[in-house]
Amino acid sequence: MSQVQDKILLGVNVDHCATVRQARYRAHALDHGDEVEPDPVDFALRCEAAGADGITMHLREDRRHVQDSDIERARAAIQTRLNLEMACTQEMIDYALRLKPDSVCLVPESREEITTEGGLDIVGQRERVGEVVAAMSAAGIATSLFIDPHPAQIEMAAELHAPWIELHTGAYANAYFHEGRAETLAELVRAAEQAHALGLVVNAGHGINYTNISEILSIPHLHELNIGHSIISRALTAGIEPAVREMKAHLTGAA
Ligand code: PXP
Repeated sequence: MSQVQDKILLGVNVDHCATVRQARYRAHALDHGDEVEPDPVDFALRCEAAGADGITMHLREDRRHVQDSDIERARAAIQTRLNLEMACTQEMIDYALRLKPDSVCLVPESREEITTEGGLDIVGQRERVGEVVAAMSAAGIATSLFIDPHPAQIEMAAELHAPWIELHTGAYANAYFHEGRAETLAELVRAAEQAHALGLVVNAGHGINYTNISEILSIPHLHELNIGHSIISRALTAGIEPAVREMKAHLTGAA
């Protein structure tokens, strides 16, 4: 993959589409696949048609949103790149080696969190992470490490020969309307510079929205942004009028 590009790529994370589906169709999503809406794979295809450069899905241990069958259907249907977010567990390593996504992004995972809340501590879990990076590389799958923008984490990513990192932008996004915004942004800038100097491809994600995107773009060397919640949320607002109109048309016999 070329590291020289003039545009930053957009990866869309469709997990929250599955979250909305699971809120109603917890059991049926498994047997009916794309027959119930919203279907994350249909959503992914629409994202691609609108210009998304890649699709991310996180298969969590508790299967709270995306299901195995979603990932398998996505693998067969999407035309861009499938990025599988996953924990560093043996179950997920075996799963990824079977599925062969275009890339994996290693994230920490705890059942209590609502969404991924902190970067993966690759300094603390150096051996385990190194094994996963090596196993994925041997299978031709690029590994991205979702890490906090801290110098020791970035150094370790290079030491483990990870081709990509994804800088966790959550602390910056949370500080956006508070004290600490400038410092958290400066930390991301320094981290991106350090990572680039070490030869790492620099992605970023978490909490990026239509408000903070212009400042996020001041971070140097960005290859791809992974964005989920704000895009899914905007889709709800942007699509409400036709959704109501269509149901109303059924009630009035106009459908
Ligand atoms: N990148 C990673 C590694 C994530 O875990 C998430 C959240 O699932 C995102 C990006 C997207 O974050 P958001 O939904 O806040 O845009």
